[in-house]
Amino acid sequence: MKVLITGGCGFIGCNIANIYSKRGDKVIVLDDLSRMGSEKNLEWLKQTQKIDFIKQDISDYKGLKAAVKKNKDVDVIYHMAAQVAVTTSVTDPRRDFEINAQGTFNLLEAVREFQLNPVIIYASTNKVYGEMLDLKITDKNNTYQYLDLKNGISETRQLDFHSPYGCSKGSADQYVLDYARIYGINTAVMRQSCIYGQRQFGVEDQGWVAHFTICAVLNRPITIYGDGKQVRDVLCVDDLVGLFDLAYRNINKIKGAAFNIGGGINNQMSLLELISMLENKLNRKIEVKYAPWRPGDQKIYVSDISKAKEILGWQPKISKEKGIDMLIEWVIKNKELFK
Ligand SMILES: NC(=O)c1ccc[n+]([C@@H]2O[C@H](COP(=O)([O-])OP(=O)(O)OC[C@H]3O[C@@H](n4cnc5c(N)ncnc54)[C@H](O)[C@@H]3O)[C@@H](O)[C@H]2O)c1
Repeated sequence: MKVLITGGCGFIGCNIANIYSKRGDKVIVLDDLSRMGSEKNLEWLKQTQKIDFIKQDISDYKGLKAAVKKNKDVDVIYHMAAQVAVTTSVTDPRRDFEINAQGTFNLLEAVREFQLNPVIIYASTNKVYGEMLDLKITDKNNTYQYLDLKNGISETRQLDFHSPYGCSKGSADQYVLDYARIYGINTAVMRQSCIYGQRQFGVEDQGWVAHFTICAVLNRPITIYGDGKQVRDVLCVDDLVGLFDLAYRNINKIKGAAFNIGGGINNQMSLLELISMLENKLNRKIEVKYAPWRPGDQKIYVSDISKAKEILGWQPKISKEKGIDMLIEWVIKNKELFK
């Protein structure tokens, strides 16, 4: 099997590459190496696996088309390349649009122009649902909880693109679905909540679970924006890659569909809870500073993952406790990467 991963040197992309390559599949990784840490991930992939690398910016249609043409026979494209931080999208919305909206459109167009038939799985985001201010939220045991929603946010929730990042990822999400409808391309969309795991170079602006873990291991202070009671459902990247593979294998069942993907209600966690978990596991006090809420930050987001369970038989296998242990272990073993 031949797999093309855009953004393949990013956190999720390099984990996909690693797992398929280990299995003996042919893996092509495409990335412009713009993200901090992506070169380190490429180095790691090259040292441990047999992969082909293409340095390419997805917003450059000519170059992307040539890369797709050269790999006409790929079975599946995992489209991960993106500008990933809401904050950066606010300071440079044009570039955010060029990468996320236009870059995705370029990929779809390249596939359509050459009349190729790969499966395309797109990494979308829960940000397509916006702030959801209509939902009643309560403060329970120092964490925010939905008052009336037992299973979290389902795919029937109305779309409400919020922030340039929400708009660019959301329009890409809709284009990917529509290319199944109008052109018959085998696409599916995964609206991801918070993914964490090894090879994640989390920073303050994106990848909070890894960012907190790296700070905790390296004895650096952590800034919490807001009160820290914010809740997210967290999913270990290994479980996400398992889902991606199931999605590819069952594309006939899910073509043109979107799924909310995260750790679900069993793996929800507040920022304060992660800090206390890290303190317990590392047996040390973490220095925490507080700063004002970031605009648009949701008090709680938990994915209802029952659609993926029902149609694909998928559910997370790695609990938040186990996943955080694995992440801590990776950071401890790789301290030199964060200097
Ligand atoms: N990590 C999460 O929690 C999360 C949550 C929701 C959605 N997502 C989505 O999942 C995907 C992967 O996220 P990640 O956490 O691995 O991010 P990441 O930043 O680690 O990886 C993205 C990769 O894309 C590359 N890239 C950026 N611009 C590019 C361009 N113009 N051309 C080619 N490559 C480019 C970067 O160099 C990087 O290697 C993204 O689409 C992101 O929006 C991630």
